[in-house]
Amino acid sequence: MAKKTPSTRARKADHIQINLTEDVRSGQSTGLEKYSFPHQALPELDLGKVRLNLSLFGKDISAPLLISSMTGGTEEAGRINRVLAQAAQRAGIPMGIGSQRAALEDPKLAGTFQVRKFAPDIPLFANLGAVQLNYGLTAEDCQRAVDMIEADGLILHLNPLQEAVMPDGDTDFSGLAKKIERVCKQLSVPVIAKEVGWGISDKAASQLVDAGVSAIDVAGAGGTSWSEVEMHRAETETQRKVASSFVDWGIPTAESIQIVRKIAPELPIFASGGIRSGVDIAKAIALGATLGGLAGPFLKAATESPEAVLLEIERFIREIQITMFACGAGDLTALGKIQLKKG
Ligand SMILES: Cc1cc2nc3c(=O)[nH]c(=O)nc-3n(C[C@H](O)[C@H](O)[C@H](O)COP(=O)(O)O)c2cc1C
Repeated sequence: MAKKTPSTRARKADHIQINLTEDVRSGQSTGLEKYSFPHQALPELDLGKVRLNLSLFGKDISAPLLISSMTGGTEEAGRINRVLAQAAQRAGIPMGIGSQRAALEDPKLAGTFQVRKFAPDIPLFANLGAVQLNYGLTAEDCQRAVDMIEADGLILHLNPLQEAVMPDGDTDFSGLAKKIERVCKQLSVPVIAKEVGWGISDKAASQLVDAGVSAIDVAGAGGTSWSEVEMHRAETETQRKVASSFVDWGIPTAESIQIVRKIAPELPIFASGGIRSGVDIAKAIALGATLGGLAGPFLKAATESPEAVLLEIERFIREIQITMFACGAGDLTALGKIQLKKG
């Protein structure tokens, strides 16, 4: 793959720093707050026996929770990935790593992404920007990224708005669906398509289903806003103003889940973008998602320790379990059938 400047590594370091120190929230909410569960005073369930486990791409996981793709490529990012992987392994939940483009450009960086030895049993997802397929990335490179981390799947992220507002962005998104289709056909593992915080529309979902993706992560609006992150990286006042104009952009997570579920009734759907509690995850599942993913909140905990990440994971799991108990859903299939109240 061709080398690009300015350095992908420098950008990744900026991203971590900005996410940790600045308010980068979307101007929109996820929309999940508009829904509530019907309370069940007589659930006829034993809380301790409420089952949260499910199978994901042939592996059993203990709860419908994903550590969303974030980082790699620098020393600090490598440490964060190792902390996240240890916590994910202990909790038995899946994890994505950040874009591996830097390691395809410079194989010396591969170690900052290689966390399999810390997480031998969980579903682990490789990550690359889909747009790179228009800038020299090949299906063989995608397979190298998967092999590099012994991944169970490849997440291809779609981030047109982020690329458009960043000073050094790759903005040719033409003809990408066909190239994604080729990757889906050639890869040895499932391909998951993912936004980064502006959601998947019905048109995009149809294109992705036609391309043959095995799952979609809606990564909707309501959480981390990448135009806000890029606003903090802007080099000129004009760039800053352009980026800040998009603070309210995107399809809220709650809406995107329902849109994608309609287009793809059978596909696993990951719900991310502003998910901040186990109640949010349970709502996302009742609206049609398979599991919920979080990025920003886990980043902050990962700067502390695996124990801090694990505490957060356990809190989310407890909240999902109590939500299911209090609405009378004994397992995730039952949770998926609960009718939420709107308004
Ligand atoms: C520091 C950081 C780095 C990220 N890097 C990537 C990435 O490399 N690839 C990707 O697909 N998404 C990336 N994301 C996006 C997240 O996976 C997620 O879709 C988005 O942040 C919305 O989730 P949140 O509101 O829980 O943060 C990153 C998020 C954060 C916070």
